[in-house]
Amino acid sequence: MTRQFKRTTVTTALPYANGPVHIGHLAGVYVPADIYVRYLRLKGQDVLFIGGSDEHGVPITLKAKKEGVSPQAIVDRYHHIIKKSFEDFGISFDIYSRTTSAIHHKTASAFFDKLNRQGSFVEKTSEQYYDEEAGQFLADRYITGTCPHCGNENAYGDQCESCGNSLSPNELIHPRSTISGSKPVMKATKHWYLPLDQYEAFLKQWILEEHKEWKSNVYGQCKSWLDMGLQARAVSRDLDWGVPVPVEGAEGKVLYVWFDAPIGYISNTIELLPDSWEKWWKDPETRLIHFIGKDNIVFHCIVFPAMLKAEGSFILPDNVPANEFLNLEDDKISTSQNWAVWLHEYLEDFPGKQDVLRYVLTANAPETKDNNFTWKDFQARNNNELVAVFGNFVNRAMVLTHKYFQGKVPARGEPNDYDRQTMEEFTDVQNKVETLLDVFRFRDAQKEAMNLARIGNKYLADTEPWKLAKTDLPRVGSILNLCLQIAANLAIVFEPFLPFTAQKLRRMLGIDSFRWESLGRTDLLPVGHQLNPAKLLFEKIEDDAINQQIQKLLNTKNNNKATRENQAEASWTPAPAKVPIDYDSFCKMDIRVGTILQAEAVPNTEKLMKMLVDTGLDQRTIVSGVLEHFSPEELIGKQVPVLINLEPRKIRGIVSQGMILYAENDQKRFALMQPQAGKTTPNGSIIC
Ligand code: MF3
Ligand code: ZN
Repeated sequence: MTRQFKRTTVTTALPYANGPVHIGHLAGVYVPADIYVRYLRLKGQDVLFIGGSDEHGVPITLKAKKEGVSPQAIVDRYHHIIKKSFEDFGISFDIYSRTTSAIHHKTASAFFDKLNRQGSFVEKTSEQYYDEEAGQFLADRYITGTCPHCGNENAYGDQCESCGNSLSPNELIHPRSTISGSKPVMKATKHWYLPLDQYEAFLKQWILEEHKEWKSNVYGQCKSWLDMGLQARAVSRDLDWGVPVPVEGAEGKVLYVWFDAPIGYISNTIELLPDSWEKWWKDPETRLIHFIGKDNIVFHCIVFPAMLKAEGSFILPDNVPANEFLNLEDDKISTSQNWAVWLHEYLEDFPGKQDVLRYVLTANAPETKDNNFTWKDFQARNNNELVAVFGNFVNRAMVLTHKYFQGKVPARGEPNDYDRQTMEEFTDVQNKVETLLDVFRFRDAQKEAMNLARIGNKYLADTEPWKLAKTDLPRVGSILNLCLQIAANLAIVFEPFLPFTAQKLRRMLGIDSFRWESLGRTDLLPVGHQLNPAKLLFEKIEDDAINQQIQKLLNTKNNNKATRENQAEASWTPAPAKVPIDYDSFCKMDIRVGTILQAEAVPNTEKLMKMLVDTGLDQRTIVSGVLEHFSPEELIGKQVPVLINLEPRKIRGIVSQGMILYAENDQKRFALMQPQAGKTTPNGSIIC
């Protein structure tokens, strides 16, 4: 598991440039990667940190179409927003580039070409939907139709957003092209496939045998993919946005976005280091680490390694520490539902508080299971941990030193037992934090770092130096010296986690830089060293600010609900009118108000409910097919309209005497119709 290596290449999933980035991105991928990279740099290791935007793919073309602009305009807009958010949050990429760059197109194209020439692909022709009016093949997302599962008329070719089922385009009933609205036809088209089945044995050996140390969520997902058996995957698409397939006669075809995007890691390295990029990708003494979210596991652990293996000259990832998902206030983060905390908006509302968010996201990192972000927790962690422990400790140590020693680090006398015990408590902090960071346990590592602040805070509270100033100033000096040494340790240990705070603290302490190896030492600040004025590291966040954020989310919920209701109304198509009848025909129907006294499911049926109804004239049994719509409890005690002179009918051996009337919408959902509340409508009242 541990092997010798000279350098580390760290990549982070390239976010799609079709929207800004939110706390889920930060928590799952970019903050952990940044902590790791800063840690390695502090240790003096050679590390390269690669990021960039993923600018191809169908969703980007769809968004462009919807807005009536070019796909390039969309990715230009979001690439810059995303890049700025990462800079603002201190994600310390060596390069953040993009997959529309010329160098990426060239690199991805050459990669495909090499595989194609050496016969690594299988070419297959299949029938796919084609829009004859628009003259183009249709990506799954470009086809809508009726969902075979729930009847939603606007399901996409890959998924129904109404019932959540994944679909393939040919399952859709009444498929339509979203480009022209016309009915698409099937047409033959040729594509290139990566025969993953041929790599199955290799992948099984490489992952399941040789990488048992991978995180269990990652290993488990790989194992289940490998156990199911791998199939060839198309690496090209019929689309006019992407890297063109570099083969003669392949006009109108581009590389599949999941083929070109991971090559973006390589292209971005080439862009940064045109002359020395190869050692970061081809030297067996380089370690490659991919930071990603769980939805990317198969691409980074199976597909991309198979591509690299097929190419032949690249190293394979050493580890893929994928995270699970972060929820927001107990609901799944969703870009389309605007259920997110957007990074650029956070900074508008909490300027300068990058580290608070970094801290809270790491404290709640979805490392082993999905986790949850709530504003209340954000506030509590800021006020009770960052302010009350870390900030408070540093501030008191600084202020007291200025008060009693003109801001110069005082001398330290012989330590007493309590001093010794305190020093012992943190001498192994380096070891503890390293052990955790080395296995990507950022949450626990940050807890250990925070523990150091707790040790300091407790030491200061227990020794109460402010009470000794009059009687024993040298002892006050001793205490403050140790406190300042702990503060200096905090500036080192928090550098990977809270880089802005660590820098602020270094400035206060009047030190340019510390070495990671010094962590745990108690002589970081020499006696007599001049400190700068004390500044608060953190400030309390009041209820008002938190309530505003919660209100913002509530507004989003309400907006979404209103939109859904409007859409439901807009798509409501009432059934066509029936043929006219004369008044006498109408009068023949005897409809009364009745009360449902009893209701129970008819055994071994899916739909039938047997009810006892008081019609005012009698009590009778009525059977209705409403089991899918109501529970017995919802019906019992309700007043409803009953058609009482319908001929009795035998249903499943039960004689049903009459019919209860319900309202039915176009989705075949039933609702009860009840007499107006507060009016007297005794059973037997005539409905006319
Ligand atoms: N854009 C993809 C996503 O957001 C991630 C691409 S990662 C890369 O899910 F490897 F392809 F770059
Ligand atoms: Zn559906």
